[in-house]
Amino acid sequence: MKRSRHQQSFLPAFVRLSVFALIFLAPAVFLCRCGSGQSAAARIAIDVSGPGAAIDQRIYGHFIEHLDGAIYGGIWDLSAERLIPETVDLIRALQPPLMRWPGGCFSDTYHWEDGIGPRSLRPTRPNIYWGTFGSNYGPDDSNHFGTDEFMSFAEAISASPYVNVNFGSGTKEEAARWVEYVNGETGTLQGGLRLRNGHPSPYGVKLWGIGNEIFGAWETGHQDAAPYADRFLEFAREMKAVDPEIELVAVGCLPGYLTCPEGWNRTVLDRAGAEIDYLSLHIYLPEVVHSINPQGRDDYYTIVASPREIETDIGTFFQDIRDAGREGKTFIALDEWNLWWQYEQLLHSNFTLRDALFAAGVLNVLQRKSPPVRMANYAQIVNVLGLINTGDEGVFLSPMYYVFQLYSNYSQPLPVPVQVESETFSSRPLASIKAQSGVPYLDVSATVNAGKNRLAVFVTNRHDFSSLRTRLEIKGVRPEGPADVYELNAPTFESGNTFAEPETVKLRKLPALKSGSSLVYTFPAHSLTALLFTTRPD
Ligand code: AHR
Repeated sequence: MKRSRHQQSFLPAFVRLSVFALIFLAPAVFLCRCGSGQSAAARIAIDVSGPGAAIDQRIYGHFIEHLDGAIYGGIWDLSAERLIPETVDLIRALQPPLMRWPGGCFSDTYHWEDGIGPRSLRPTRPNIYWGTFGSNYGPDDSNHFGTDEFMSFAEAISASPYVNVNFGSGTKEEAARWVEYVNGETGTLQGGLRLRNGHPSPYGVKLWGIGNEIFGAWETGHQDAAPYADRFLEFAREMKAVDPEIELVAVGCLPGYLTCPEGWNRTVLDRAGAEIDYLSLHIYLPEVVHSINPQGRDDYYTIVASPREIETDIGTFFQDIRDAGREGKTFIALDEWNLWWQYEQLLHSNFTLRDALFAAGVLNVLQRKSPPVRMANYAQIVNVLGLINTGDEGVFLSPMYYVFQLYSNYSQPLPVPVQVESETFSSRPLASIKAQSGVPYLDVSATVNAGKNRLAVFVTNRHDFSSLRTRLEIKGVRPEGPADVYELNAPTFESGNTFAEPETVKLRKLPALKSGSSLVYTFPAHSLTALLFTTRPD
């Protein structure tokens, strides 16, 4: 394997040699996962005495769009005219708190009234946005998956629905009718229509987005910030006249990202801020327009370090909210995030363990940053850049699926301050991803419940070949009894799953760990480990 400056920036040669000797020549020591009296190469200090403000659970959210097989063939079976039970079960197992629909770029072309009523009477329409990429990206849409089907999907997976209205080719009246169809009592015009379509109870959808990436020239309805903000206000008034309880998401963008115009966020917030509960931020790394194919060790380090760039980006974006005087009133909706380097990934996702470690890094950032970030939606859950891949050959799970399984199921509501000391690496730039230096190999987040009797610690060891023997110190609570341990790992960081070999990368539950306030644990190379402690408040 090619050597690079990842190694060059470490400690002096004699220290590297000793670390090498310890790791490779003393397997007996390193096979021991725990203990208390041994020295360690890294340190994690967790102080549970003063946990931070609650993490909004919607940061573990997801997204589906009418694009390739995300919906038809992904979650909806067109021949059986029903949700696909296998995918629904796999999604439910992730306990998704939030599901965004119907797009994405598709939403700015979608007329929701095409997708209600008896399915046999619904019109088939061209997929105006994704169809321009080819019929495999945007096949004609039968409209058999519409509002009522989306609501039954959200109910089946116990997620809160988040609906994005058509700002691009739609009108404010159309958007308001949609709010009434979804949330109105049966005595209203649209609520009565919903009743006649077999759904008497209002769905009570709280979260509504107005437009998607309107700042971009590719988007239907693309506009400058000022006219967007003014028309956003018209939509907001019309929609809130139907249901004043709804919360609204406006289009924002990351300064410097693709064609995000300078000052977009400030203009939108200054003109329409009073009606903006959330400002939307989309981050895909590296931007797909570069059409690259990351591989090898240098690209591995760039990708696993890149959540730090996302952390910085969230800070930059939040500064716009602060500068507009909206801190505490407008929150961040990171309502699309992922890795994406080729358009073909919308058809076949090919994520590896490397990419799962990236996803864990993003969730670590979000767990640390949550208060201004009130929601985040991984894009997208099935087939399109998917966690779950379906086809004639069956189903396989991306390594990233297991990351969500770990975080959604085991994270606790309150973030806990963590200090990490470990050796560091440097990474190179890759398309739009920036170079970084001084990146610790270990990336950690920790969460605790209000009763302080459950502590979840998530640790990624980004080193590509060395395990890291680490002292873990816990203050503010006393760990009791054995701790559960889950590990996501595989033979190499380039290991992935396929239809033919679906279990190369998977989550393993390891033997329970004898816990204590100070212990030593060896985190294997290129792995994600969750340590789940039962604790007693000090
Ligand atoms: O997730 C695919 C696309 O990426 C979405 O439709 C759009 O919002 C983003 O550019």
